[in-house]
Amino acid sequence: MAGPLDDARVEILGPHHDRSLFASGAEPLDRYFRTQAGQEARKNIAAPFVLILADGSIGGYYTLSATSVKLTELPANVARRLPRYPLVPAVLLGRLAVDRKHQGKGYGRFLLADALGRAVRSEIASFAVVVDAKDEAARRFYERESFLSFPDQPMKLFRPMADISPLFK
Ligand SMILES: CC(C)(COP(=O)(O)OP(=O)(O)OC[C@H]1O[C@@H](n2cnc3c(N)ncnc32)[C@H](O)[C@@H]1OP(=O)(O)O)[C@@H](O)C(=O)NCCC(=O)NCCS
Repeated sequence: MAGPLDDARVEILGPHHDRSLFASGAEPLDRYFRTQAGQEARKNIAAPFVLILADGSIGGYYTLSATSVKLTELPANVARRLPRYPLVPAVLLGRLAVDRKHQGKGYGRFLLADALGRAVRSEIASFAVVVDAKDEAARRFYERESFLSFPDQPMKLFRPMADISPLFK
């Protein structure tokens, strides 16, 4: 049976995408997408990706950037297995949002899987994918997707690349 995800695809944000109608219900995420995402892409600060639905509309978006994590921020059992550098490299999933009309249909998980796939396929090493959850609901969403909270920052979560890579083998 054909599902809503069958005709959806992910593209790099370009000038031809109409962002004006996108509304996830999270105002900062909507404003960022409408007013800042294009600039940040041009300045190489963030790479925005958009979900294009069967009717051509934008169903969601996410951004990826390089970041780093302090070794001392990580749980002791994770830090112990890493070299003693002050910082370790990671991929930041800075923003993720699905249009309100299409929430709860699996697109959030689909976009997250797409983002993890891009992080894994990158030739630049990173130890984990890191996310900042904007509220409790977002934190639960990421926890369901096997992200772990940083011990002293419950709204910041990570998933080690060692856990992600096997999913794409
Ligand atoms: C959070 C968000 C990206 C999830 O996207 P979505 O398309 O609605 O989620 P999906 O349909 O793919 O759901 C995936 C799983 O997460 C769960 N989930 C979805 N939204 C959730 C929420 N707000 N709280 C807790 N769990 C949630 C779903 O129940 C589903 O799990 P299940 O299959 O075991 O039932 C979307 O609701 C959104 O854009 N919200 C506003 C912005 C936001 O909060 N962004 C988070 C980044 S800070």
